[in-house]
Order: sequence, then structure tokens, then C-alpha cells
Amino acid sequence: MKVLVVGNGAREHAITWKLSQSPSDPTLFVAPGNAGTAEIAENVQIGAEDIESLVHYAKSNDIDLTVVGPEMPLAAGIVDRFDEAGLPVFGPTQRAARIESSKIFAKEIMESAGVPTAASKHFDNTADALNYIELAEPPYVVKADGLAAGKGVIMAPERADAITAIQDVMDHKIFGDSGSTILIEEWMTGPEVSVFAFVDGEYVSPMVAACDYKQIGDGDTGPNTGGMGSYSPPPFWNDALDDEVRRSIVEPVAKELSRVGSPYSGVLYAGLMLTDSGPKVIEFNCRLGDPETQVILPRLESDLLEIVHRAALSELEQTEIVWNDLACVGVVSASGGYPETHRTGFEITGLDAIDPSATVFHAGTQPTESTNPVTSGGRVLTVTGTGKTLAEATAAAYDNTARIAFDGRYHRTDIAANL
Ligand code: AMP
Ligand code: GLY
Repeated sequence: MKVLVVGNGAREHAITWKLSQSPSDPTLFVAPGNAGTAEIAENVQIGAEDIESLVHYAKSNDIDLTVVGPEMPLAAGIVDRFDEAGLPVFGPTQRAARIESSKIFAKEIMESAGVPTAASKHFDNTADALNYIELAEPPYVVKADGLAAGKGVIMAPERADAITAIQDVMDHKIFGDSGSTILIEEWMTGPEVSVFAFVDGEYVSPMVAACDYKQIGDGDTGPNTGGMGSYSPPPFWNDALDDEVRRSIVEPVAKELSRVGSPYSGVLYAGLMLTDSGPKVIEFNCRLGDPETQVILPRLESDLLEIVHRAALSELEQTEIVWNDLACVGVVSASGGYPETHRTGFEITGLDAIDPSATVFHAGTQPTESTNPVTSGGRVLTVTGTGKTLAEATAAAYDNTARIAFDGRYHRTDIAANL
């Protein structure tokens, strides 16, 4: 089987790595990929958002199945285009992907399905939003409706903060057009957890949970990033919570999406907050998470190729999906200065010194003529440590991270610490 993975992050390297372990022994291609995927697949020089070129490539190279990693091409309708061309593809259609690409759509689905989430109001003009702030009590959360590369959320403890946020998003367009419509939400508190399931219509697979770290600095300080680390399973996750989240959140949403004519196929990712009054949805995503993928795919006992292939054929229920009890911790190494300006092009050494307790998933890396790749992005790689306990996995992740070097390398030192 010829399988094409779309994307170039550590998430897509992890997907490719897991597919490469399939007993079906697929031939793998990654568009555009990185130095890590180049070792286990053939990189194809087409960007993840260049949908027409991807369709053309898949057609002319007899690709049997395409697996889409990032949200942008999904929101832009890559699955619809592959469907039209008769090409099997794993991921939700553009309509179903609105569960991530429109926060208002997601709220409507949750409301009609009776799914617990932060109370919210939406506005398409500044005056109405400002009027609402005068009436509602602080604190508030101000969000752009559309995709904003994980950055479209402003926490506003006081009225003045919310007024500035509304003006920044709606008038000064700091998130571009994705902020033409905004939501003002209730500020929830509690531990956060990301929950993932493979979904095919109303069928929801066994789920898996992970936690990620969004801020650049230790102790959750500094600006948000694409993710600086993650671990799975969270110590507080148990069968009762899993059952509650499945019954009160994931299954009702899958059912409602089918009912409104946007049936879901792919990975459904629920970002949850465990509040005093139970689990509530922060947001849904229409794909696997990054860096969560790097700590959940090592926990997938089943054949990922079989899963994504069955899902693409709308027969997911016919395969068994099993998550193991391994503990995994992922530590991201970033370029110095990230998420602000940073330099790239530095040689990465030590990749050959990794022991079997860890796996390196590349993100911003580029192969070179010589043996070592060079850095080419903000987040450079994730080192995932595995063990019987989170403590063992954390030690493996950090021991192996320390063996890798490039100029200016930065990582958080508190991933999965203090649990
Ligand atoms: P999102 O991009 O919607 O996942 O939001 C990014 C982060 O903002 C989340 O991981 C939460 O930490 C925080 N956040 C978003 N919405 C809320 C909310 N209603 N209450 C509290 N925190 C929130
Ligand atoms: N881990 C956050 C995301 O993938 O959106």
C-alpha cells in the first residue's frame, strides 16, 4: 500500500513512524516532511496547504491512502477534494472540520447536543461586544471565531482587559479575518486535558488522554507556543472519567454532527477543563494534537494503518483499537528565542546517541548532504521517553534530550514534573 502523510511537524513524523510499524509494510510518502520523516519515508516537496498539487500527486503516483495531519488543509476542504477525485483519505470533510474552524459552529453543536461547555455569546461588531462587557461581570475570555494557529484566545481578568482585547481582535485585526466574529466566554478553572478518539459517523473508538504545555517558560510563564511538551496518561484519568467524557461529550457531539448532515470521520480531539461541576469543553479540534501525538501513538497497541484505512472506508467499527498502559513523556527542543524571532540552520548532533527508552520526532529539521540535519524552525524536535511510570518516562525523555545539541537549543525543564 502506498500511503501519503500530509504535514511537516513532529505530529506527522510520529504518524509516519507508527504507520511504518504496520504489518502491512506500507510504502510511505510525506508532504513536505522533515529530516526525520526522510529516514523512514520519501519526502515530497509539496506544502501541506497546496491541496490541488497534493490531489495531483496522489492521483499520478497511485497513492492508496492519504492521512492529513494539520487543521489548515482540513478546514480548507482537502478531504472533499480527495473524495471528489475518488482518492481514499483519512480526516473530516470541510463541513465536519467546522467543529474546529468555527468556534460558533462548535458551540451550536454542543448546545443542541446538551454538551457541557463554557457559557458564551458571539458578536460580529465591536459596539455590541463592548455593550455586553458593560453588563456581564468579569473575568472574561475573548476568542476569535476562526482558526488563529492556536493563538486566538485572550484571557481578560478585568473589564478594561476585555475592552482592549475586543478592540485588538475586531478593530485592529490582530488575528486577521479569523477575528471578524468573536466569542466572549465564561472563564472556567480546573485541570486541562486533551482527549482523543477515532470517530466514524456515530462510532467513537476507545479514547486516550494526554496533557500538553502551551507556554514557553517553566511554571507556565511567558507567551504561548505550538506546545513545549506533553505526557500521557494523566495521573487523574480513570475509567469513570473516561466513561463520563465519552457519554456526556464525545458521543453526543458525534451523533449531533451526523444529525445535522456533517458526519465526522477522523480523529476528534476534545480540549477539556475538569471544573468543580464536571468536565466541560474548552474547544474541539479536528485532528491529532501536537505535541500530544508524540506521547499517544507510542501507546497505540493496534495497527494505525488498519485504523486510518478502515476509517477512510467508513468501516472503522470493524477494527479493534487498543491503548496500552505505557507512560510517555514528550519534551520539545526549540530554537533559542522561539516563539519570537529565532535563528535556524544550526547542525543537530547527538541523534545517534539516543537509547531505546526514547524516540526522537523531528519538526523543524532539514536533511543535509552530510550526516547531521540542521534546524529549520521554531520547534525543532520532540524527544519522547517511555517507561512503566511517568517518572521513568520523564527521566528517559530528559536523559535523551540532554544528548542532543544545537546552537541555542531551549527546552522546558518541568514537563511532567510535580504531578
Ligand atoms: P483554545 O485555543 O480554545 O484551546 O484555548 C487556549 C487556552 O486558553 C486553553 O488551553 C485554556 O487554557 C484557555 N482557555 C480557553 N477558553 C477558556 C475558558 N473559557 N476558560 C478558561 N480558560 C480558557
Ligand atoms: N496541543 C494543542 C494542539 O494541537 O492544538
